[in-house]
Amino acid sequence: MQLTCWYAPLYAHQLEDLKTRLFTRGVDIDAQKIEKINAKFLRLNPELALVLDEDGLSLTAHGMKMSPDWSAEIGRLKRATLKTEMLARATQANDQPNLIDATAGLGHDSLLMAKFGAKVTLIERHPILYTLLEFSYDKAQQDAFLAPIVANITLVFADAIDYLSQQQAKQEKIDVVYLDPMFPQRDQNQQRQKKQAQVKKQMQILHLLLPEDGEMDLGDGLLLQAQKIAKRVIVKRPRHAVFLNDDVPQHQWLGDACRFDGYFRIHSTE
Ligand SMILES: C[S@@+](CC[C@H](N)C(=O)[O-])C[C@H]1O[C@@H](n2cnc3c(N)ncnc32)[C@H](O)[C@@H]1O
Repeated sequence: MQLTCWYAPLYAHQLEDLKTRLFTRGVDIDAQKIEKINAKFLRLNPELALVLDEDGLSLTAHGMKMSPDWSAEIGRLKRATLKTEMLARATQANDQPNLIDATAGLGHDSLLMAKFGAKVTLIERHPILYTLLEFSYDKAQQDAFLAPIVANITLVFADAIDYLSQQQAKQEKIDVVYLDPMFPQRDQNQQRQKKQAQVKKQMQILHLLLPEDGEMDLGDGLLLQAQKIAKRVIVKRPRHAVFLNDDVPQHQWLGDACRFDGYFRIHSTE
């Protein structure tokens, strides 16, 4: 995979490290120094690219810029209670489980579960997304509020099917596996989900990075593998989506736009 990276002159020192990290993950960077990476520049250069500047590492496309931006989650994290957060209830995050988030993406769900005390291992297989997560993680360690939360988080660059099989072979004790696989954008549009503009923007750029042409991996195999190693598997789905792997869950937590499907090895209730 090849990708352009626009970098501001002040950040040249971070570029070599970024290039090396991405190269080991199979991404070849075409680095271009840009004096002013501003909104006009991004509008005039609408193709998918990386940006390295005062915001850290971001992805850009169609004049928009996005990154996992964990500091933007602080407000939600401060307000979050078990009562307001279905995800925390579904994963029993406050019992401090040993939890694998097998589809890390931007890491926002992991951050929330880690805030409630879960020991979260984030698995992401996409080299660009994984590298964006590393930047967010490093930045969060410098923040007084986020630092104790990210202390509960470990990042792993891997395909989750392989990772989960290795954990099974090692007989590791995993309490919860959380899955939020990609869902085709066309199907999400049909559901006319009311999403905040910021979330929509992030999803549009994510879908450019993870295009839907060809066989999109919808994560059915992940559910099978997760059920082999964890007594509790929680799957996030759009509210009206079909079940993952056509497997009917034992319990559901229903929200306006999404729901959480619960699969338990031993029957348990919320
Ligand atoms: C919908 S996003 C997850 C969003 C995430 N819950 C969040 O809070 O930002 C799905 C992510 O899972 C990743 N993914 C899908 N299948 C995977 C697998 N087998 N192994 C590792 N990552 C996977 C994709 O690359 C994508 O980044």
